[in-house]
Amino acid sequence: MISKLTIDQVYETARLEEVIGDFVQLKKSGSNFKGLSPFTDERSPSFMVSPVKQIWKDFSSGKGGNVVAFLMEHEHFTYPEAIKYLAKKYNIEVEETERTDAQKEEANERESMYLVSEYAQNYFSEILWKSELGKAIGLSYFKERGFSDETINKFHLGYCLDQWDGFTRAALEKGYLIRYLEKTGLTIVKPDTSNPQNSKKFDRFKARVMFPIHSMSGRVLGFGGRILTNEKKAAKYLNSPESDIYHKSKVLYGIYYAKQAIAKEDNCYLVEGYTDVIQMHQRGIENVVASSGTALTSEQIRLINRLTKNITVLFDGDAAGLRASLRGIDLILEQGMNVKVCTFPEGEDPDSFSKNNTLEDVLDYLNNNSKDFIQFKANLLAEAAADDPIQRADTVRDIVNSIAKIPDAIKREIYIQECAHIMKVSEGVLFSTLAQIGKKNQKEVSKAVSKKQKAFDVVKNNEPTEKVDVQYELERKIIEMLLLYGTDEEEFEDLVLKENEEGELILEPESLKIKVYEKIYLDLQEDEIELANVKFRNIYQKLIEALNENKDFTVNTFMAGLDQDMISEISSILMEEEKYVLHDWTRKDIYPKDKKTVIAQLVSETILTLRCFLIKKRMFELQKNTENSSVDNREALEEVMNYLQLNNLLNKKLNRVLS
Ligand code: CTP
Ligand code: MN
Repeated sequence: MISKLTIDQVYETARLEEVIGDFVQLKKSGSNFKGLSPFTDERSPSFMVSPVKQIWKDFSSGKGGNVVAFLMEHEHFTYPEAIKYLAKKYNIEVEETERTDAQKEEANERESMYLVSEYAQNYFSEILWKSELGKAIGLSYFKERGFSDETINKFHLGYCLDQWDGFTRAALEKGYLIRYLEKTGLTIVKPDTSNPQNSKKFDRFKARVMFPIHSMSGRVLGFGGRILTNEKKAAKYLNSPESDIYHKSKVLYGIYYAKQAIAKEDNCYLVEGYTDVIQMHQRGIENVVASSGTALTSEQIRLINRLTKNITVLFDGDAAGLRASLRGIDLILEQGMNVKVCTFPEGEDPDSFSKNNTLEDVLDYLNNNSKDFIQFKANLLAEAAADDPIQRADTVRDIVNSIAKIPDAIKREIYIQECAHIMKVSEGVLFSTLAQIGKKNQKEVSKAVSKKQKAFDVVKNNEPTEKVDVQYELERKIIEMLLLYGTDEEEFEDLVLKENEEGELILEPESLKIKVYEKIYLDLQEDEIELANVKFRNIYQKLIEALNENKDFTVNTFMAGLDQDMISEISSILMEEEKYVLHDWTRKDIYPKDKKTVIAQLVSETILTLRCFLIKKRMFELQKNTENSSVDNREALEEVMNYLQLNNLLNKKLNRVLS
């Protein structure tokens, strides 16, 4: 268990905007930051981060919370994983309270897989740098490829000795369990059915140089291992198998080292191999990632889309597989991103080209040879179809198909013009082809929509018309005030019934200095009001307890102990106003009221309004009951009268507050 001290320290130190900034490109927007939701495929930003409140809210998915909730949602960390990640980022020493054996056993499976992977990364580097064979074989191989010590260190490159189980034995000796060595694929276990004790264990990466693969946040997920001999039988690269921590389709090699440069340069170079990424980095171009030999997936593109709208795909000189890669381009276009393509001279790839040229030359080459995807595709396909009119028609259709993938209509139009020019076809024909494709797509979309609509309608019928639920809004406001101003001491004015010298009852103002949460609690208590909304009621209870117990109450530490549902609800409440900022309502002259200056008034107003509302509701119910029954209803009438009096009193108070 991580100690309370460490957790508190982490919450005190971590800056939400910095942590999120590592994953999402944030732009300043008033007193907040906004960016594209990392949870959906949206095109206009609805993801808000409040540095003041240290809370984030994603209006497109409805998710929200504090810094830990973000890491749990985004990186799928467990709570301790998130705390440890933050501690590492801010150089906070993690103090662990002693664990029992049972707790140790319970320790998260995935965490164990991460740990064993990190151990492997360190072990393989150690072998590379320290052992004789490692230096002679692994290190000299990397040196030969032109990698500097600094580069080898930065990417944590390593070497796995040419032994059957050298790594596995070392890991087992260190206390790592065979279960996790096997689950991460680092060790291959060949069971011996007659004698399970005798199962054979092999290092998967025997005699290979090692490239660790990192997540966006820098954790080791898996490895690529390159063989050093020219054996035709063995694969040149061997990769970790899919596992609970390594999902090939969601990982881009180098993203951890590239993310800042990608956002800064507002462009991402996409290459094929590990060595392309590393060599370009060493040359000084850091905004580069690799799909590592597999076909590009939309999940991988989404990783980039969070950082920039612009991708430049770099293709090796040997055009093999070029056509296959074109599908990847359509996937990028579909996400509304801009694609450029750059090919290298025959026999060169980004690796060799960056190795053999200066930074200036490489940058020049990239700038001069990056073509718009449409030019690129047109040239490529046209070459193949040079004199064949039928193939030419297919080519044109193929290009228009790509253009149809672009969500933005204006961009589509520009590309059509460009395509017409390159392919020497009239724009008119292209536009009608585009329209045809568009219609076809539309039909598919509307089919899908109408299916959804039906399901939705059924639900809708159960919930009649949408109307503003006054009680809901007021209860929500009460929670908001407790969260934001609960511990503030304010001067509240109340009207109190007093007897004057003549013995008459009069209302007299009395002022009272108490904390906001005390005021709310006491007032609601007085009428025995319980919040009707179950979620709010639970939060209210927890809040009052926390405020009462803890002098140093902060929203962040409060949320630490809650379940995800409550955290989400609370961030919704706190980020409510930001929605207005988001919609740019300020430009339309609608300013959310500056609450801080009028807290006492706001608190009184809200509670009084709620009390009045509930009384009216109660009176209404009573009246209805008396109308419908013939029995003696004097008691009920009396109750109504009492309520009426109370209502009058409350209204007087409310008027005073409002004036
Ligand atoms: N790859 C793979 N398995 C293979 C071959 C390739 O996973 N059997 C992946 C690797 O990620 C590799 C990328 O595809 O980096 C590109 O392949 P290739 O161009 O053959 O490798 P290079 O990076 O050029 O490797 P090298 O320069 O070391 O030959
Ligand atoms: Mn290559």
